[in-house]
Amino acid sequence: MTLFVASTTAPVNIATLKYWGKRDKTLNLPTNSSISVTLSQEDLRTLTSVCTGPEITEDKLWLNGSEESLKSERTQNCLADLRKLRMKLEDEDSNLPKMSKWNVVIVSENNFPTAAGLASSAAGFAALVMAIAKLYELPDSLSEISKIARKGSGSACRSLLGGYVAWEMGEKADGSDSKAVQIAPMEHWPNMKAAILVVSASKKDTPSTSGMQLTVGTSDLFQHRIKDVVPHRFVEMKQAVLEKDWPTFAELTMKDSNSFHATCLDSFPPIFYMNDVSKGIIKLCHFINAFYNETIVAYTFDAGPNAVLYYLEENESKLFAFIYELFAEVPGWDSKFSKDELTQFLSDFDS
Ligand code: ADP
Ligand code: DP6
Ligand code: CO
Repeated sequence: MTLFVASTTAPVNIATLKYWGKRDKTLNLPTNSSISVTLSQEDLRTLTSVCTGPEITEDKLWLNGSEESLKSERTQNCLADLRKLRMKLEDEDSNLPKMSKWNVVIVSENNFPTAAGLASSAAGFAALVMAIAKLYELPDSLSEISKIARKGSGSACRSLLGGYVAWEMGEKADGSDSKAVQIAPMEHWPNMKAAILVVSASKKDTPSTSGMQLTVGTSDLFQHRIKDVVPHRFVEMKQAVLEKDWPTFAELTMKDSNSFHATCLDSFPPIFYMNDVSKGIIKLCHFINAFYNETIVAYTFDAGPNAVLYYLEENESKLFAFIYELFAEVPGWDSKFSKDELTQFLSDFDS
């Protein structure tokens, strides 16, 4: 049996200016531009292996050890685009194996909760498209590959690039100008860090794709968001990143998370992605910033209850003094506060 295999990993990216809403469902063209930070692959990542050969009888996808349907239009669109690019190479060089005609088996694993609002579709489709591009030996055109990943899941187009990434919504009906571009590499702001607070690892009841369709169709607030809020926030956030203006970046990030969740609540019937623990985390972050009279932390929540906290490395112990005391028993953690002080903070926080 002749088999060809390739593997790759892809990182998660967490939006600080949220993509929520499509103007074209098939091409995954968004109703607004968005901004995200691609996290280090050492933490959250998808690992995907693909294999093809003339004897494989059908396309198959194994996700986290279970077989998933490969029938969805989005996966089919990605496969069709990749096969088309491979076919071009085969037409140019008749010695190449005719991989474009063969089925593929895709085996993927996320090392973090899937479909729980931690961008599994972003890392997942970025890895799927990259792995097949590698298998097909397609020329390295990240921008081309990123547009194919976008058709799998909108947010996936941002995971192909590192650091601070903008997804420019574009204007064209064919999506040729709807693409991810790097605002700055990770090293531009080396003391920026992210912490993930897993509130629930369960699969959400409203997937992002259907959630945003409902919002587009029913929320008046959403119209205000895409017309009057996001366009100038996009410019301001990009500038805050370029100038490493932490307080502005942090404020815009928190406000945009709240604005996105407000449009979910304004959908009909409403969508609740955050739970009481998520809301407690929001309250805690504002409490911490007020306590130090300085912006220590910025929260953001994707379509799920799990929190991503952005902070500057030099403030790590100030932030985790609270997080560890409130949420985790950390062996060896040396509290900066006395028991009396903590009891006081907690009673202030609860009130
Ligand atoms: P999330 O908030 O995790 O991105 P979504 O609702 O956007 O949740 O997407 C979840 C879906 O993305 C999963 O149900 C699955 O269909 C797809 N997905 C997640 N991880 C992978 C992966 N590694 N490979 C292929 N598809 C994936
Ligand atoms: C809240 O990219 O998962 O995480 O394009 O339908 O697959 P589809 O949706 P998806 O939506 C992400 C929504 C978000 C915000 C963001 O990542 O920008
Ligand atoms: Co997603």
